[in-house]
Amino acid sequence: MSEFRRFNLKTLDDLKAELERLGMYLPLSEDLSVLAEPVKVGSHTLSNRFIVQPMEGVDADPASGNPSELTCRRYRRFAEGGSSMIWAEAVAVVPDGRSNPKQMLITKSNLDAYKRLVDETKQAAMDKYGHEILFVVQLTHSGRFSKPDGIPAPLKAQHNPHLDKALGMETVDVVSDDYLDRIQDDFINCAKLCAEAGFDGVDMKAVHGYLIAELLGAHRRPGKYGGSYENRTRFIKECSMRMMRELPPECFVTSRTTVLEPCPYPYGWGVAANESDTDWNIDLTEPKQLLRELKDMGMPLLNISIGFPRFQPYMNRPHDNSLVGAPPPPEYPLEGVVRFQNIIRDIQMEIPDIPVPTAGLAWLRHLTPYVAAGMIKEKWCTLIGQGRGAFAYPDSVNDILNKGIMDPKKCCTTCSMCSQIMKDGVACGGCVVRDREIYGPELLKGRVVAKAKGLD
Ligand SMILES: Cc1cc2nc3c(=O)[nH]c(=O)nc-3n(C[C@H](O)[C@H](O)[C@H](O)COP(=O)(O)O)c2cc1C
Ligand code: SF4
Repeated sequence: MSEFRRFNLKTLDDLKAELERLGMYLPLSEDLSVLAEPVKVGSHTLSNRFIVQPMEGVDADPASGNPSELTCRRYRRFAEGGSSMIWAEAVAVVPDGRSNPKQMLITKSNLDAYKRLVDETKQAAMDKYGHEILFVVQLTHSGRFSKPDGIPAPLKAQHNPHLDKALGMETVDVVSDDYLDRIQDDFINCAKLCAEAGFDGVDMKAVHGYLIAELLGAHRRPGKYGGSYENRTRFIKECSMRMMRELPPECFVTSRTTVLEPCPYPYGWGVAANESDTDWNIDLTEPKQLLRELKDMGMPLLNISIGFPRFQPYMNRPHDNSLVGAPPPPEYPLEGVVRFQNIIRDIQMEIPDIPVPTAGLAWLRHLTPYVAAGMIKEKWCTLIGQGRGAFAYPDSVNDILNKGIMDPKKCCTTCSMCSQIMKDGVACGGCVVRDREIYGPELLKGRVVAKAKGLD
């Protein structure tokens, strides 16, 4: 691993020199025209290459799960920013699977609130650009990270001594096959509600250690959802197949799937089977097989991510500043960017006939467009995903496509404060640096409570 240092790159030449110094490669291009190209996603045509990656704002109404005014504002700003597709954040399928009390939750009784969110978001893009955006929603169950009332209430898919020890969950029981069967029904019912609300696609979320992702590495789990590859991938495949059969044809099914749950074998996913019970090495054989199977089932695009945000945030969201009390990143964030983009390339090459979006580019700030264009040109990915970049600088797409630049003063600084708000668990999430009037006070609310509880 290279030594940690903060972002200090002004020009594309600086980035080239830095990559050369590290002996690393990222495709780069100054010709940004590819970013404005239309892209086919199933039967839809996107008007450009940009998508907003799912970013939880923890601002839903705790009692109903309804999107709030702040939720609607975030999505309106994304739509007005110019991306052709928005991948909405995690929405829980059951109350006990919420990661925090303000995570969105869709139910029969709040369907109208979701219809409004979809209509207003789509209308905002139509009013500004005259284009239809594709609006996908991510359905989730937080599994061992569930905290529906603000305190951990874990629902584990397997005993995992590494995570159990780190999270103090050694004595927590594993959820039963019957529970998982019921959760499948909940995913299907919520997917139908999402289709009725007007979303164009539904994502079966299986990343970042949450319930469905944890099942993928449940080698030691007995019963039909653990052990063999077939059993471990049963939930995501059966559930997606049922969604495909039961949703109206205008709503497609996709997944944000993990390709790396970094734990020593036999507890991880995307890791090599080896003798060591303390170390892991990447082996994408099984994740690639699963993604090929999901594609063959009919998913028109696949989104991926890696790592547990709780334990390896440097892998999936390379950053300069860590959460309060956490150590600085163990590596130079540019190395994390290169690792993540190489994994995205490997996956896109495995399923070249459907689009795979990038993620994890925010650390590059105003140099993002050159890497984005390079990646498209060299076919490392088909779509350019922005997560923190969309929180900080929602209209960056407009600037990239119309002016050919990003304003460095508007870019995400990878300060981790939006993640801090999520972790503190009481305030609403957004960009503390570039949307300070709203989210500065929100950060403080969470900090005061965390300090009072002695959580720092
Ligand atoms: C505050 C915050 C909330 C996030 N919420 C979600 C989420 O709901 N679902 C998800 O799949 N990823 C989520 N992510 C991960 C992002 O989608 C994205 O993969 C990550 O931030 C790296 O991309 P970036 O460099 O463009 O930010 C979140 C990340 C952050 C920082
Ligand atoms: S708070 Fe803003 S600047 Fe900081 S990481 Fe989040 S989006 Fe980026």
